Amino acid sequence: MYSDKVMDHIENPRNVGEIADAAGVGTVGNAKCGDIMRIYLDIRDGVIMDAKFKTFGCGAAIATSSIATEMVIGKTVQEALSITNRAVMEALDGLPPVKIHCSCLAEEALRAALWDYAQRNGLVIEGLEAPKAEEE
Ligand code: FES
Repeated sequence: MYSDKVMDHIENPRNVGEIADAAGVGTVGNAKCGDIMRIYLDIRDGVIMDAKFKTFGCGAAIATSSIATEMVIGKTVQEALSITNRAVMEALDGLPPVKIHCSCLAEEALRAALWDYAQRNGLVIEGLEAPKAEEE
């Protein structure tokens, strides 16, 4: 049911880990399945130099966070906003319909990390909104 690309990212996830002193950190969860994703960004002069993730969740959540970190490295903050869940799914050659929400988690975690970066630096990033409040 998963594409070869998804399987590759599940079996060999890229950029797993944390970034000490990250410029932005975004943590999101899906209340229904209970999965949690955290993305760390190292940003210098408005360019994302490095990205790492920690995901406690299903295979699709791991694959989408893995590829999202790959896609975002080297992009400007503004360019990173174009990484939607649809872009993530396309990069993975698709996901089964029941797994689409997992790719939304990747988009939300990325945006939450960018929001954190903007908040810490007093920046307004066009097109970026505050992440939805996490359910405790
Ligand atoms: Fe929860 Fe995939 S089933 S993120």
